[in-house]
Amino acid sequence: MHINFSKLEPSEEGVLVVGVPEKQTEDLTGIARDLDKRSKGAITKALATMRFTGGKNQLVEVLSPSGLDLDRLLVVGMGDAEKFDALAAESVGATAVARLLTSGQKEATFAVEVPKDATIDADTMAAHVALGCSLRGYRFDNYRTTLKKNEKPSLTKITIGTEDVAAAKKAWRQQEALSSGIVFARDLVTEPSNVLYPEEFARRARKLEELGVEVEVLDEKDMAKLGMHALLGVGQGSERETQLLVMQWKGASDRKAAPVAFVGKGVTFDTGGISLKPGAGMEAMKYDMGGAAAVTGAMYALAARKARANVVGICGLVENMPDGRAQRPGDVVKSMSGQTIEILNTDAEGRLVLADALWYCQNRFKPQFMVDLATLTGAIRISLGLEIAGLFSNNDQLSERLLAAGKAEGEELWRMPLGERFDRLIHSPIADMKNIGGQFGGSITAAAFLQRFVNKLPWAHLDIAGTAWFEEARCSTPRGASGFGVRLLNRLVADHYEG
Ligand code: BES
Ligand code: MN
Ligand code: ZN
Repeated sequence: MHINFSKLEPSEEGVLVVGVPEKQTEDLTGIARDLDKRSKGAITKALATMRFTGGKNQLVEVLSPSGLDLDRLLVVGMGDAEKFDALAAESVGATAVARLLTSGQKEATFAVEVPKDATIDADTMAAHVALGCSLRGYRFDNYRTTLKKNEKPSLTKITIGTEDVAAAKKAWRQQEALSSGIVFARDLVTEPSNVLYPEEFARRARKLEELGVEVEVLDEKDMAKLGMHALLGVGQGSERETQLLVMQWKGASDRKAAPVAFVGKGVTFDTGGISLKPGAGMEAMKYDMGGAAAVTGAMYALAARKARANVVGICGLVENMPDGRAQRPGDVVKSMSGQTIEILNTDAEGRLVLADALWYCQNRFKPQFMVDLATLTGAIRISLGLEIAGLFSNNDQLSERLLAAGKAEGEELWRMPLGERFDRLIHSPIADMKNIGGQFGGSITAAAFLQRFVNKLPWAHLDIAGTAWFEEARCSTPRGASGFGVRLLNRLVADHYEG
C-alpha cells in the first residue's frame, strides 16, 4: 500500500474519509459540516440513521452521497475529542482501511481534522493515521494461489491530507520504520514451520545487514563449545540445526557504550517433545517463535530509523521435536552458567532456550539491562487473557518504563510477582533446579527459573503467549500474527535510551 501526504482538502471524487469526534454528530464542524451542507443534510441524516455517536472505531459509509461526486464517503468516529491521541489517530486509519481493503476501491483520501480541544499536533496525527492504515492493511497471501479477484486487496494508494506536508512526511518516516519492523516480525510469525526453521529464521535476519545491523549466527558446534546444553538439549530431537542469532545495532555516538539488550524465545515449532502436546490446536505452536520475531522486528525498526542507541538482539532458535535422540523427562543437562537442570517436562522448553541465551547475553555484552520476550506459558493466557502480556522483573524502574511504553503503544503489560516463595518451587532433589514448578502459578515459576540465569543486572521478562497471535482483528492488527513487542521495545529505546 502506497501512502503519501498532500494539502488538506476534501477530494471531489473516489473515496473520502473524514473524522467526527464524539458528541459532535448533530453539530458537525469543518470539512464534515461543509460536505453535509453540499449534500443537503444527507450526511447528518445517515449518521442519525446509523446511530453514529462518533465513538472510537465507529464507521458510517455513505455510498454516492447526493450532491457530491464521491463513490463513497466514510465517516469514522474519533472518540472523545479531549482524549484524541496518537493511538486514536491510528485507529481512524485502521478502521477505514479495514472497510476499504477489499472493497474494490483502489484509492482513498483522508481529510481528517484535529478535533478542537485535542492536544495532538496535525503532523503527528497524519503520521499515525498512516500507521493505522499500513498496519491494518497487512496481508500474508504468499500461499494462496486461487484467491478470486474480489477476495484480493484492491486498495493500493492512500493520500492523507494535512496542513504541513513536509512535517507530516518527516513524522511518517519514523512510523514507517516502525511499521516495517512490525511487518517483518509478523511475516516471520506467520510462516509455517516447514518453511521457517531455525536456519531459515537466521537467514532472513541477515536482511538487517542492509540496514547496518551486524548479524552473527552461532551453530551447534559453537554452542557446544560454550556449554549451552540447556538450549542444545531442546533441539536434540530435531532434524534442523539449532542456531543462536546475535544482532547488534550501534547507533549511539559512542559505539562502545554499554548496549541495551533484548532476548527472544525462537522455538520455530513446539510439539512438546517427548512430553508431547495434545493434537488439537498444536498448529498454533508455529508461533512459538513470537518472542524472537519481536526482537528481530524491533532491531529492524531501530536500525531503519537510525536510533541513536546501542542495542543487542539475541534469539535462541530451535525446534522442539520428539525423536529417538530427543531428550527425555528425567534427563539432567548443564547450562552455560554451570547450573544443572532436571528436565521433568520436555514441553517446558522455552525457559531452557532462554537460560543459555540470557546468560550468554549478560556475559558477552554486559548490557545496561536485558528484556526477554517469550511465548512462554499457557498459564499467562489463563491469568491475563489474550490482550495484555505478563511482566516479570527484578527492577522497578525498568518495569515502570516498560509499563509506560506499553500503554503509549497499545501493547499493554501487567506486572506479576517474583520472589523466594516461587523460586523454591523449582528446587530439584537431583540437580540445581527442575524445569517445572507444580500445578500452580505456572507463569511465575517459569519466570523464577529465568531469574536464576540473571545476575544483579536489571532484567524483565515479558510472557507474550497470549498476545503474539490475535484470534480476531483488533485496532491496527488484523487476525493472525500481531508482532506484539516490536512497538514496545522501540518506544522503550526512544523514550529513555537515545542520547
Ligand atoms: N510454547 C508453550 C506455551 C504456549 C502455550 C504458547 C499456548 C502459546 C500458546 C510452552 O513451551 C509450553 O509448552 N509451556 C507449558 C509449560 C508446562 C509444561 C510447565 C505450558 O504452558 O503448558
Ligand atoms: Mn512447550
Ligand atoms: Zn514453547
